Amino acid sequence: MKTLFLSLLISTLLSLSLSKELCNSHDKKVLLQIKKHFGDPYLLASWKSDTDCCKDWYQVECDSATNRITSLTIFAGNLSGQIPAAVGDLPYLQKLVLDHLNLTGTVPDFLSRLKSLTFLDLSFNGLLGSIPSSLALLPNLGALHLDRNKLTGSIPQSFGKFKGSVPDLYLSHNQLTGKIPASLGNMDFSVIDLSRNMIVGDASMLFGVNKTTQNVYLSRNMLEFSLSKVAFPSGLENLDISHNKIFGSIPPQMTQIPLQSLNVSYNRLCGQIPVGGRLQSFDFSTYFHNRCLCGAPLQNCK
Ligand SMILES: *[C@@H]1O[C@H](CO)[C@@H](O)[C@H](O)[C@H]1NC(C)=O
Ligand SMILES: *[C@@H]1O[C@H](CO)[C@@H](O)[C@H](O)[C@H]1NC(C)=O
Ligand SMILES: *[C@@H]1O[C@H](CO)[C@@H](O)[C@H](O)[C@H]1NC(C)=O
Ligand SMILES: *[C@@H]1O[C@H](CO)[C@@H](O)[C@H](O)[C@H]1NC(C)=O
Repeated sequence: MKTLFLSLLISTLLSLSLSKELCNSHDKKVLLQIKKHFGDPYLLASWKSDTDCCKDWYQVECDSATNRITSLTIFAGNLSGQIPAAVGDLPYLQKLVLDHLNLTGTVPDFLSRLKSLTFLDLSFNGLLGSIPSSLALLPNLGALHLDRNKLTGSIPQSFGKFKGSVPDLYLSHNQLTGKIPASLGNMDFSVIDLSRNMIVGDASMLFGVNKTTQNVYLSRNMLEFSLSKVAFPSGLENLDISHNKIFGSIPPQMTQIPLQSLNVSYNRLCGQIPVGGRLQSFDFSTYFHNRCLCGAPLQNCK
């Protein structure tokens, strides 16, 4: 009797502790492959095969209903190497952050398989090559951070037709060349940051009076277009177009925009700075180093 009771107790405890493993076995296998790919780094020391990835591992989060991995956030470390193919085998990922890791290789095409992704951040690495146009196939993408890498080539045409939501787009501090595809004019980005690249030509398609765009950062490129005819989104808050070859004049409509910050310096603008709105609240460095801009806060027009 006693032994029966004991063995019952033991088997109950055993099944209890076994059933407590929440981690999906496929996802766990994939994560362990990722760890191995990076050479079992100290950064991923909490990823152990005999513990529960949903409860015991850092850098990952599981969905509370399905226990599938929905978030992988590895931040700041030295994981030099390419983005492992195994990442493409986590189909329920909503958030993928591989940031400040010294990663090399390209931005892989297989990321477009991760249809649940809402947030993709690969910034501050050493990623090379061009931006895969297939990223525009991600139907739920809310933010794409590819800034501060060594990406080359031009912005994909496909970024003018994201399949679902319009992501906040951060592509700054790369080596992107070519023109901004005209198709981007179809998008109503909330944030677009293309600064510190080598992009040429027109950027006026990013603007438009009916867009809800709030932040546009284009500084330190080789953009060359007239500002005179640009109609700015009525809710634009931050605009930096400094260090380009932008010509024309500042349109009077800019006095009606609730700008919190503005920088048009180091361009080829001319004419009087329109009077009104926030335009005289910025100091001269917002406007200096242009061809012949004048009026407050610069010197009077002649
Ligand atoms: C990045 O990786 C390279 C090559 O493996 C290495 O020499 C360098 O020290 C790494 N940088 C950092 C900040 O860890
Ligand atoms: C980064 O990792 C690479 C490869 O493992 C190694 O060669 C390099 O020394 C590391 N750099 C630093 C700063 O730890
Ligand atoms: C902006 O929206 C208004 C009102 O819906 C419309 O009349 C106008 O044609 C639109 N302008 C542009 C440039 O799309
Ligand atoms: C505008 O940009 C220029 C060039 O980068 C910089 O020197 C200046 O301080 C900036 N001014 C403002 C108000 O941001």
